Amino acid sequence: MTYPATLTQAFDIIRRTIPKMGTDRPAIGRGDLTYERCHNSHWVDGFWSGQLWLVYDETQDAVFMDAARAQRPYFIERLDRPESHDHDLGFLYSLSLVADYKLTGDEQARQGALRAADFLMGRYNPNGRFIRAWNDWENSAKNRGRMIIDSLENLGLLFWAAEQTGNPRYTDIAVAHAHTTVDYIVRADGSSYHSFHFDPESGEPLRGETVQGYADESCWSRGQSWGIHGFALTYRYTGDVRFRDTAVKLADYALARLPDDNVPYWDYLLPDDETPYRDTAAGVIMAAGLFLLVDQLDDAANAERYRDSARAMLDGLIAGYTTFDYPHAEGLLTQGASHVEKGYANNMLPYGDYFFIEALLRALGRTAFFW
Ligand code: GLY
Repeated sequence: MTYPATLTQAFDIIRRTIPKMGTDRPAIGRGDLTYERCHNSHWVDGFWSGQLWLVYDETQDAVFMDAARAQRPYFIERLDRPESHDHDLGFLYSLSLVADYKLTGDEQARQGALRAADFLMGRYNPNGRFIRAWNDWENSAKNRGRMIIDSLENLGLLFWAAEQTGNPRYTDIAVAHAHTTVDYIVRADGSSYHSFHFDPESGEPLRGETVQGYADESCWSRGQSWGIHGFALTYRYTGDVRFRDTAVKLADYALARLPDDNVPYWDYLLPDDETPYRDTAAGVIMAAGLFLLVDQLDDAANAERYRDSARAMLDGLIAGYTTFDYPHAEGLLTQGASHVEKGYANNMLPYGDYFFIEALLRALGRTAFFW
């Protein structure tokens, strides 16, 4: 199936899901290809809104804008619940209020997104030079000194806020966090830790640890994909080749470990006796990141290599993992692996759906997104 035909099918599924979703948001797919809905402070809340805004931008059909706008009260209201905020403010607000502002110029959306950026900036640890990822779990202070690779995707909100306000502090924090990620999360061989701990007071680096990967020293494929996409974004904003070269290093590691259909397993260093679940979300995030990187490389042959790899990934996903044959499906891609250790594998995932659309649009040459 061609990319335009795939997008048409995907847009039809999103259109038919709008009345079913109402003001809810998809959280994780059920076995019958419907979606569980989000609770009221979920990290994935922005991905449905992000899909709606992307489709509106592409089609100019008001149905999609109206559905995205129906989500706005939730995102505005959530700003008044700081206890519901962690580093995922970028995922939440780049794909909702920033998207709204970029496409419609709405001032309430702009003000809300700037508030979200301020909350995100408030999570910066100046001694460790990183943005704290998560809040405390079950009265444990373990997360006070933790950064994670996923956070790179939240930096776009800070770069956008710097552009809007002229305040360089947003950029300084985003750049410092990105350098710390290169220094401690990325390993010499191009693989990555999921998270890294620092002493929360002194900022002294302590150790890497996984939460969603197979093991501390393995390489969680979705984290690797966040790194590829996130470092390429950081290069786009900063022009610092250290970030582009890191995205390339992470991409080369992952590309050398893809299975025959180019859809990643959930971890790149799984022992033979572990179930090799796929993670289609890791696949689409990486494909979108590779397309982003293609435009940033000076060397045409290298750029072509990454374009071919991204296409091969998309082709594998389209051939084997879409929901298109199921008229009641509420999402787009099967076989995402949200958190294998907790029993979440083989599910549709809203971030898989969002990045599927982003990757397909990037494959067709679109360059304007909300990050
Ligand atoms: N950011 C969390 C995840 O990728 O599951």
